[in-house]
Amino acid sequence: MARATNALGTIRELSGRDADLHREHLLRLDAEGRRERFNGVAGDHFIRDYAARCFAGRTRVFAFIDAEGIVRGAAELHAPAQGEPADIAFSVEPTFRQSGIGSRLFEVVMSAARYSRYPELRITSTAGNRAMRALARKFGARFTFEAGEVVGLIGLDVSHGKVAATRRAPALPAERYAAAV
Ligand SMILES: CC(C)(COP(=O)(O)OP(=O)(O)OC[C@H]1O[C@@H](n2cnc3c(N)ncnc32)[C@H](O)[C@@H]1OP(=O)(O)O)[C@@H](O)C(=O)NCCC(=O)NCCS
Repeated sequence: MARATNALGTIRELSGRDADLHREHLLRLDAEGRRERFNGVAGDHFIRDYAARCFAGRTRVFAFIDAEGIVRGAAELHAPAQGEPADIAFSVEPTFRQSGIGSRLFEVVMSAARYSRYPELRITSTAGNRAMRALARKFGARFTFEAGEVVGLIGLDVSHGKVAATRRAPALPAERYAAAV
């Protein structure tokens, strides 16, 4: 179901039927974006394998889809291993950045994580990734730096008896995307 729409794009969860759209989005990231997203060198072969695995297990993928139906931004929520935080990851294509898409995807991922009662989220990138730090800081991340990596941890309040179903996010003002499209 679409979570936010306007004339220029929609945010919704992807399913296996959308796997090609998600893979092509990841393949369009440039070398720097790939390094920041995957925290290392990521060639086409790696990305194809990685994208195929995203829909094979418990990972949830959310995307910003433009007016032509092309995925321009994506967020992943990985189910946590025992005692570990749930890992999250984001990618927005360069010409679509700094127009609020990463923030909207972050909100959707946090909603989904609360609904699943995951108490903590973890985001990892290269230590110099200012955009990731700015994005995650908005959502309360605390950072540690080690061996060229930055790790952000975000605690979620899942203590309430009832967790609201994943909330429908308010529509994004169209003008926020105008510069990017
Ligand atoms: C990190 C990333 C997802 C951010 O996406 P985005 O759509 O540009 O994010 P937003 O537009 O919502 O910006 C979020 C905040 O970060 C700030 N920001 C974004 N890029 C920035 C940059 N390069 N330097 C400093 N601040 C930046 C924005 O100003 C905004 O803050 P504000 O709301 O207070 O104004 C995007 O840069 C990206 O895909 N990078 C490559 C992959 C990556 O690094 N992924 C994260 C690790 S998994």
